[in-house]
Amino acid sequence: MTNKYMYFIANWKMFGGLNSLNSLHKVAKFYKKFHKSKFAKIIYCPPNTLIRPMFKKLVNSRIDVGAQNCHENESFGAFTGSVNPRMLKSVGAKYVIIGHSENRQSGEKNKLINSKIKSSLNSNLKVILCIGETLKEKRKKITKKILSLQIKAGLKNIRNKKNIIIAYEPIWSIGTGIIPKTNELLDTINFIKKNNKKLKVLYGGSVNPKNIQTLKSINNIDGFLIGGASQNPKKFIDIIKKTYN
Ligand code: PGA
Repeated sequence: MTNKYMYFIANWKMFGGLNSLNSLHKVAKFYKKFHKSKFAKIIYCPPNTLIRPMFKKLVNSRIDVGAQNCHENESFGAFTGSVNPRMLKSVGAKYVIIGHSENRQSGEKNKLINSKIKSSLNSNLKVILCIGETLKEKRKKITKKILSLQIKAGLKNIRNKKNIIIAYEPIWSIGTGIIPKTNELLDTINFIKKNNKKLKVLYGGSVNPKNIQTLKSINNIDGFLIGGASQNPKKFIDIIKKTYN
């Protein structure tokens, strides 16, 4: 049983069309009645194509909308295929995920991540910074070193961290159904928090209605970044309900 303020962030990745918005009213209805809703913050991060229609659907629901990535340029520019934070903000996004491992794996480096974070904050978006180690790094026992580096480089020269949330997502856990051992996760989250006082730290990677029973017992976690399960409103609601049961 928790009464803690917790984040539940839905990362839809490259899934969903306009018809995927049809079932959102279920989550909005649930959230309105949910007796713990003042403790639970829900943020939906759909593909950019759905930000505006989703924002309109969720208006008055107190559920926020965010983006999954952005360009590092604050102003307009000749960057084919890109969208900057200001543009995301103008269509209703309040948050942006930056440094997701799926983007890091396709070449996004810490320096670029740092620029994206700065320009997002300047554009008044709140940032969810994803960090996490590969299986190889875990086996080499360099997880903490990797995470420290990702945070240090990602947040370089950013003094005001009040609009930053960290999401710890071990890469080997994303989409695999495998979650870290309870004691390991507790230790890793404590490590991140010890070095970054005041920052909220979420966990992400294969969160589902079954393993939430285990994950919720790790009491230093401030919420969850949920991929696959968040596309199904029933599962998403279940995860939130069980966190508080
Ligand atoms: P998953 O994805 O819940 O499907 O493992 C999490 C994420 O990539 O943010």
